[in-house]
Amino acid sequence: MSRVAYVAGQYLPHRQAAVHIEDRGYQFGDGVYEVIAVVGGHLVDEAPHLVRLRRSLSELRIPAPMSDAALRLVIREVIRRNGVETGIVYLQVTRGVAPREHAFPKAVKPVLVITSRRSRPADPRLGREGIAVITIPDIRWQRCDIKSVALVPNVLGKQQAREARAYEAWQVDRDGHVTEGTSTNAWIVTPDGAVVTRAADNAILNGVTRGAVLDIIGCEGYRFVERPFSVAEAKAAREAFLTSTTADLLAVVRIDGFPVADGKPGPLSRKLREAYLSHATAV
Ligand code: PDD
Repeated sequence: MSRVAYVAGQYLPHRQAAVHIEDRGYQFGDGVYEVIAVVGGHLVDEAPHLVRLRRSLSELRIPAPMSDAALRLVIREVIRRNGVETGIVYLQVTRGVAPREHAFPKAVKPVLVITSRRSRPADPRLGREGIAVITIPDIRWQRCDIKSVALVPNVLGKQQAREARAYEAWQVDRDGHVTEGTSTNAWIVTPDGAVVTRAADNAILNGVTRGAVLDIIGCEGYRFVERPFSVAEAKAAREAFLTSTTADLLAVVRIDGFPVADGKPGPLSRKLREAYLSHATAV
């Protein structure tokens, strides 16, 4: 099946799908995006993703390109046309196309792009054995709560992780606290068994997976605190893990080369991963 993309109102063959050279997403990173998982043909946590998309748009004062009802239809059509059973949907909305000038152009229509692709099942070793992270300074802006397409610091951070043979880079603020990964949220379990993740302030993206895992933690009655944690605290933690739409929940077993506890996924991370995977596969 050949791939199809939705671009500003049209379904186009993926190879021919293009936006204008003066699209403000291309020139200024002036746009927002969402990534939603497709599991067994169904969208995982579609509603909170669409709520977050609306919030990101409104924070940047970009009008919504269509109603949520219409958006849901187009998303499903893109998935159908691409024959995606398991994979992801990518949605991007930029402020639109206009002669290059920093301030908002007057009459401009937002440009919506939706693509979808199949993905191979994640390497089961990552779930079984856990992953390594490195820590790097957080050099991003002060509105990381907006899911902006301007991701250069995240790109540099992820590349640094790859070059260090790590899965992710945990970004660290000026106070020495971990904010989040370059495309994932960061969590630890303290020596006395409390799950800790940073509160969803302006320094992190409020992950939809984070929200789902918080609900699971609440239902299961695990002890939980939303607060910043330092790199030293993470290295001394009983367990650590990360969450995102594409990573699900992965145990972090090494930080900057140091093993977390015995260097194996801990029991709570394993339980939460199982619970999250059943949540994602439940229709
Ligand atoms: N990234 N933090 C950042 C900076 C992210 O980019 C993401 C998601 C997350 C986790 O959010 P969620 O649980 O809603 O996926 C946290 C997506 C997957 C990406 O950029 O591909």
